Amino acid sequence: MVKLGVNIDHIATVRQARRGVEPDPIAAARICERSGCHSIVAHLREDRRHIQDGDVWKLRKAVKTRFNLEMSLQPEIVAIAARLDPDQVTIVPERRQEITTEGGLDVAANARRLQRTLKVFHRKRITVSLFIAPQSRQILACRDLGISMIELHTGRYAEAKTAAARKNEFAKLAAMTQLAQRLGMTVNAGHGLNYENTPAVARIPGMEELNIGHAIIARAVFIGLGRAVKEMLQLIHNAA
Ligand code: PXP
Repeated sequence: MVKLGVNIDHIATVRQARRGVEPDPIAAARICERSGCHSIVAHLREDRRHIQDGDVWKLRKAVKTRFNLEMSLQPEIVAIAARLDPDQVTIVPERRQEITTEGGLDVAANARRLQRTLKVFHRKRITVSLFIAPQSRQILACRDLGISMIELHTGRYAEAKTAAARKNEFAKLAAMTQLAQRLGMTVNAGHGLNYENTPAVARIPGMEELNIGHAIIARAVFIGLGRAVKEMLQLIHNAA
């Protein structure tokens, strides 16, 4: 079955609205894990708009499945991640003005910085995933850097305005999954996935894990986090 990683950033977004202590992202991670998710994802952004430094250290201790830290290539964040030693890091582009991660990494343009950063994580045996657009030039640039795991950006598929555009974006995701797999990479996907558009992505042959945040947390507001996670797992399971 395709795995589900739950991104809990927006639990912290609600907490930061009052700069208080609740809702607690660590309690949320425990509920997600008890409900069957396969990993917990949190993004320590440079501007600390949701997840805070203290959260990632607590998550490191509390997470029993796999802790996947999303992060930019900024040296301060790389240094924290290296000390933190999560199970996995997912490297994403980051711009302060954006509402959420808007595009994939330009792997070739960042090759030198990536090489330096990869050395740090490889030394610590931390799995590294790169968040990229479903484009062959990005996948080939990953191959050139010796990358073993990628996350395909599903934003354009999720936000497609017409059935034809969605079909086109879906075809790219399926083809790029196949290409990356042929090159020996583990393929994950995420961004903008919800209770309607996830099953098709879960059916892509070779897909390993889907990372989903906003839709699950939004649904949780109405039905509770445990049920929201279980519903998504059921959809993914039924899609297989
Ligand atoms: N994967 C990556 C790399 C992301 O940056 C995000 C957004 O933080 C997600 C998955 C989850 O996206 P969404 O919140 O739209 O489900």
